[in-house]
Amino acid sequence: MVGSIVLFGPPGAGKGTQAGRIVELTSKPQVSTGDMLRAAVKSGSPMGLAAKEYMDAGLLVPDDVIIGLIQERLQEDDAGQGVLFDGFPRTIPQAESLEQIATVSSVISIEVPDDAIVDRIVGRRMDPETGEIFHVQFKPAPPEIEDRLIQRPDDTEETVRSRLEAYHNQTAPLADWYSDRGLLIRIDGNASINQVGVSVERAISRIL
Ligand code: AP5
Repeated sequence: MVGSIVLFGPPGAGKGTQAGRIVELTSKPQVSTGDMLRAAVKSGSPMGLAAKEYMDAGLLVPDDVIIGLIQERLQEDDAGQGVLFDGFPRTIPQAESLEQIATVSSVISIEVPDDAIVDRIVGRRMDPETGEIFHVQFKPAPPEIEDRLIQRPDDTEETVRSRLEAYHNQTAPLADWYSDRGLLIRIDGNASINQVGVSVERAISRIL
């Protein structure tokens, strides 16, 4: 049986954009730690308020908070056949904790160079009603919903630099960690959304 799949890559690589297709193909629920943290921020919970300070500064939220969120999420009924992790794990301690509680079958790494990331993040817009992700240039929203689109508070050029630094220092070493375990599938994310989608579908057909 195929266990959980990890969608891995730098901020703005296109993980959220490609996740929907993987959910369709695998029937595994998407578990995005970024979305879970944003929901906690919105709820005004003490954990959400503490996490917001890290997120706004482009820093990673501490491992114990993230691992607690994931442990709780994996108790839910829909997680029994594995899930699609989006944005988790992001540090080696997170990956080691995950190893104790779930089986990871494959890690799909969407690879995008830093110079393409800044434009993607600064131009990102989200539809708060559906959660759909758009981009002012690369994936424009239909004009009738343009007025309601929002921009994430951490999607500024300054914060992107800190997020990229956190990625290179703390998250990128995980690629080798998973490669050593024979689980890493690298795909070129520096292509159009549709071309990346084709590569993602190919990767999924190797996994299923
Ligand atoms: P999170 O929400 O996970 O943010 P991220 O990893 O920085 O990833 P993004 O959501 O920014 O990017 P994405 O890869 O999903 O790209 P998208 O598809 O939207 O985390 C936010 C914060 O929460 C972190 O900074 C941290 O503080 C905290 N956090 C979360 N998880 C954590 C963890 N495990 N441990 C510790 N802290 C954690 O695409 C981006 C844009 O580009 C969109 O506009 C899209 O339309 C466009 N686009 C997508 N693909 C293409 C393409 N091929 N060509 C052109 N444009 C494209």
